Amino acid sequence: MKTILDSIKDRRSIYTINDNPVLKDEELEKLIKEVTKHVPSPYNMQSQRVVLLLGEEHHKLWNIVLETLRKMVPEEKFGTTEAKIKTAFDAGYATILYFEDEDVVKSMGDKFPSYRENFNTWSTQANGMLQYALWTTLESEGYGASLQHYNPIIDDEVKETWNLPKSWKLYAQMPIGKPTGEPGDKEFMPIDEKVKVFK
Ligand SMILES: Cc1cc2nc3c(=O)[nH]c(=O)nc-3n(C[C@H](O)[C@H](O)[C@H](O)COP(=O)(O)O)c2cc1C
Repeated sequence: MKTILDSIKDRRSIYTINDNPVLKDEELEKLIKEVTKHVPSPYNMQSQRVVLLLGEEHHKLWNIVLETLRKMVPEEKFGTTEAKIKTAFDAGYATILYFEDEDVVKSMGDKFPSYRENFNTWSTQANGMLQYALWTTLESEGYGASLQHYNPIIDDEVKETWNLPKSWKLYAQMPIGKPTGEPGDKEFMPIDEKVKVFK
């Protein structure tokens, strides 16, 4: 059994994934719901929102990304873009979309006006906590995942396609799947430059 620290160490950005199932869909759904339920948020405002795209819905997302980029990326560079999206993201099993419900964040600012700006910052921090908690939990279950940011260029179409509330702001896209390769080497800066201890 892996410890939390093992999974923290083993979580990486994995760009080589396929669509072989790791958990059953119901188990994956349950896991995502459990993590999303228990992750913290400021004043317990619970502004984080998640969409799990499976099967054709997952491919639909990466098609939206591809077709959006096709209109923006110079033709001679598009081949590389397309290959990356197809092999590293669309080739996976599912995609998790992360949102914040801005109505919730705004209502907290209305309730506590002197903290209004803090709620905006805290909202992104809370979303990051959810992304990280899920990323690490998925690693412990055998998934490979990466974190992508094609927002805001895909936001309108995403909301329209899955009929999502206008108040949901898209923060990140996380393609997941069965890993087919190892992540690249990663450099670490000296830890004592990041962590200071006084006693
Ligand atoms: C807030 C945040 C945003 C990131 N955005 C992207 C992204 O848009 N595309 C991407 O491929 N990786 C993205 N990453 C992944 C980082 O590049 C990666 O975590 C970092 O290089 C360390 O590698 P590791 O994830 O394998 O430990 C992001 C990571 C974080 C924490």
